[in-house]
Amino acid sequence: MDSFRIRGGTRLKGKVEISGSKNSSLPLIASALMAEGKTTLHGVPRLSDIDSMSKLIGELGCHVFRRESPEKVDKDLPPLDGPLDIEVREETMCEARYDIVKTMRASICVLGPLLAKRGRAVVSIPGGCAIGDRPVDLHVRGLRKLGAEFRTENGNIVGEVRGRLKGCQMYLGGAQGPTVLGTINILCAATLAEGETVLVGAACEPEVSDCADMLNKMGAKIKGHGTAEIRIEGVDRLIGAEHRVIPDRIECGTFMIAAAVTNGELEIKHCNLDHLVAVVDRLEEVGVHIERQNGTAFVSSSRRLNAVEMTTQPYPGFPTDLQAQLMALLCLADGMSVVTERIFPDRFLHVGELNRMGARVRKEGPTAVIQGVKELQGASVMASDLRASAALVLAGLVARGTTRIDRVYHIDRGYEKIEKKLAAVGADIERVREK
Ligand code: EPZ
Repeated sequence: MDSFRIRGGTRLKGKVEISGSKNSSLPLIASALMAEGKTTLHGVPRLSDIDSMSKLIGELGCHVFRRESPEKVDKDLPPLDGPLDIEVREETMCEARYDIVKTMRASICVLGPLLAKRGRAVVSIPGGCAIGDRPVDLHVRGLRKLGAEFRTENGNIVGEVRGRLKGCQMYLGGAQGPTVLGTINILCAATLAEGETVLVGAACEPEVSDCADMLNKMGAKIKGHGTAEIRIEGVDRLIGAEHRVIPDRIECGTFMIAAAVTNGELEIKHCNLDHLVAVVDRLEEVGVHIERQNGTAFVSSSRRLNAVEMTTQPYPGFPTDLQAQLMALLCLADGMSVVTERIFPDRFLHVGELNRMGARVRKEGPTAVIQGVKELQGASVMASDLRASAALVLAGLVARGTTRIDRVYHIDRGYEKIEKKLAAVGADIERVREK
């Protein structure tokens, strides 16, 4: 298990390039299961979760191949990752094994595509994870409405379709609002269903729209994605297409906060601030200076940080995936901030670790009250989940002394070469490899 050693206190300055979105790429790769011929995805990041999804669809009969690419967005930055080619070679396998699902909950994304294309899916039921219970009942409910039949067997969800799925109107929301991957699963299945499906209360996240855009290139007839009502006219077949994954809005937000917390100045390339309106709003309120020019964000801060209130919400609200990172910044704000988590009310594992670094955060149910302090101190801390780990890296960048973050495999799931990108803009960070 690798760890990071960070010596805090350096000001970040320079250019950083944002990778393609992890949370878009995962369902895009899964939806390639439904296409005939080759699907080519540009901009898929090199991450352990992408390896897990590639392995999973490999076991489901796909040939997955990463090409080399000399493509560059900027002369000062390394070349982009090569495109990922996916081709379905065999359609008899229908099982997502526990071994893969337990390492990556997004494995559930194969459920809709398998049912729609192969008429059968066996997917190990994802267990709880560090950020909460994370049920999949809304996925199953929606697919059932399209006509799939489900039972549970030995820890697996077993779904079957007699004949073809049938389009219908359905409400998708749950107690915590819409579901992102649930919307995508049902959207995928509906593309090959008979007749029209209307999804009401659909998730509006850019990752849902990205998937719909790719499916439309494959021949699907989807309208209204990006809004809470999506209309899908079923088609008989989908043909492989070429698609570029949207930039990772969470990685972009994390680097914006890195610039802010270190009193730095970053030129963040290949990003889409239209996907981060609520984040820009909160950061500007904190006192961070943000300018945009085409696909580049210029972010700087004088480190006089105002305390703010923030509540996570479904898109276009402030994303839960940036809650921990914003909290790391607010630990150093002038006054008392209040952060409320409405998507995953238990997603506060970073609180205890930030407090070990000298922060003053008190948790009250789904809310954290943060009393700003003058400085954080380096300490040995433990990464507990992907975004909590990112928050600890941010805290380490500004803390006095050395921070050691253990279990950084969590961060490797979602941030491509984070230590290299940070070191290139001046951070004193190194990966310590465990022998
Ligand atoms: C996606 O998870 C993301 N994962 C998560 O990112 C992100 O935090 C989350 O959306 C919310 O934005 C990927 O895209 C791979 P949900 P997803 O279904 O789709 C409840 C990261 O750090 N719910 O939108 O699984 C659920 O418990 C990850 O990159 C049900 O009750 O999340 C939550 O309270 C972590 N029943 C709310 O809905 C269901 O069947 C929203 O979850 C499904 C969800």
